[in-house]
Amino acid sequence: MTGTIFLIGLSGSGKSTVGPMLAERLGRGFVDTDDEVERAMGHTVAHIFATKGELGFRSLERAALARIAARGGDLVIAVGGGAVLAASNQEILRAFAARTVWLRASPDVLAARLGDGADRPLLADGPLAALERLDAERRDIYDKLADMTVDVDMISPDEVVDEVLAALGDGLIRVPVLSYTVLVGRGATERVGELLPTSARRAALVTQKTVPWRVDLPIETARFDIGDGEEAKSLATVERLCRGFAEAGLTRTDVVVSVGGGVVSDVAGFAASVYHRGVAVVHVPTTLLAQVDAAIGGKTGVNLPEGKNLVGTFWQPAGVCCDTAALDLLPEEELRSGRGEMVKYAFIGVPDLAGLPIEEQVARCVALKASVVADDERESGRRMILNYGHTLAHALEAAQFHQPDRVRLRHGEAVAVGLVFASRLARLLGRIGEARVREHVELVAAAGLPTGLPAALAPQPKRLVELMRRDKKATAGLTFVLDGAEGVEPVYDVPEGAVFAALAEMEAS
Ligand SMILES: NC(=O)c1ccc[n+]([C@@H]2O[C@H](COP(=O)([O-])OP(=O)(O)OC[C@H]3O[C@@H](n4cnc5c(N)ncnc54)[C@H](O)[C@@H]3O)[C@@H](O)[C@H]2O)c1
Repeated sequence: MTGTIFLIGLSGSGKSTVGPMLAERLGRGFVDTDDEVERAMGHTVAHIFATKGELGFRSLERAALARIAARGGDLVIAVGGGAVLAASNQEILRAFAARTVWLRASPDVLAARLGDGADRPLLADGPLAALERLDAERRDIYDKLADMTVDVDMISPDEVVDEVLAALGDGLIRVPVLSYTVLVGRGATERVGELLPTSARRAALVTQKTVPWRVDLPIETARFDIGDGEEAKSLATVERLCRGFAEAGLTRTDVVVSVGGGVVSDVAGFAASVYHRGVAVVHVPTTLLAQVDAAIGGKTGVNLPEGKNLVGTFWQPAGVCCDTAALDLLPEEELRSGRGEMVKYAFIGVPDLAGLPIEEQVARCVALKASVVADDERESGRRMILNYGHTLAHALEAAQFHQPDRVRLRHGEAVAVGLVFASRLARLLGRIGEARVREHVELVAAAGLPTGLPAALAPQPKRLVELMRRDKKATAGLTFVLDGAEGVEPVYDVPEGAVFAALAEMEAS
């Protein structure tokens, strides 16, 4: 969770005890506004009250809170009991709080805790009466400001921390897919242990040297690096991995963990599905494309010289961990590629992603893929809509695959071109109007993705049509997933002439 956690409540309610404990458990810093005032003035709060009076202290306290808030960072801040009276402090809490937690205590319990109230200037005239007065004066304000309230009378500081943590949750989104969970959010990697099967004593962690994301597993781990790019998606890599698994003593109750983009999850998933006739796999996708697509849904695969993804299996993972912090390290061109798949989702059921936090965007795409996959695990029907834009995309990728000097169009970029092409083809077949084509072009362009054919392939429509004819989904003639009045659906036996005409409309980019 990002943003500040403010602790509010009367003097003695435990803010300065619970605050550092909570901060430590959350791995963040802790600041107490009273300490900040004391540090700035070089005197105790009691001394400041004695020399400057309550008004003088409150003004220093306001300045202290403003300073702390301006410094930023995800902190736990214990707010002085009376600070909430100032409207400017209330504004700060409202503006900066991820959560404001009221530690609610009864005056009599507090009075017993605080004894004679020494060092607490506001209690000098008799703690119980003073606390009752302060409670009456402030409880409505605490109540209004607080997102959550913990009654602290009967529980220890440890229990207060547990209760706050339980209520805060871990800030992660959990999307159920078939029988497993996809964890989405910043810091999800810390929770990856939760996804491992309980039977696993050893893990084979499959990654690439080019993946800058580290995952520490709570079990013995052997690391395997595979090569980068489509060349690494080969049966040779799978054989090397399986032999490595055997050498490392991986048994059928152990687990393979993939850490990387779609290349890693496709290869590691495939190796896991065939090693010992199938061992559990957990994916930690670290590219946007793998988080919203490749690591979800259980399709694995490798390439043959004859084509991309020609050998593969359906092998559902035991869990998937999409840590959006990994995306901070991703180069812009890889992010753009991921956005290609996200644009596809916009046309098959997830509109309005713009403006949402990235965690939410990823989670929504995952949830849609989850629902489609749950309906059709082995891609015999509805799941084909996930291939929207992919028939041409695969042809472009295959054409590049065979070209030594290929223009490296990334998967999501190829999908983006494929989406525009599919919309043009759908219009030529009378399934959609020109406005809908424009929507495709605009959304693809807005994501910074290409809307035309790569210059090297634009002059080769025959070759592209030939490759599209060989598409795995093409069980009957030329098959495409196309938009229409009923939404996106597979369309069989599309006339070749329309396909050439749609290709001709695709300007080279
Ligand atoms: N199985 C499926 O359902 C499915 C769906 C879509 C795509 N795919 C496959 O996925 C592959 C493409 O996946 P991709 O786009 O993730 O490419 P990729 O796996 O090649 O990753 C792209 C590059 O980014 C690096 N990388 C990974 N994480 C990084 C990070 N956090 N920071 C910096 N660099 C990082 C990788 O090492 C690699 O060099 C294709 O082979 C495609 O066929 C599979």
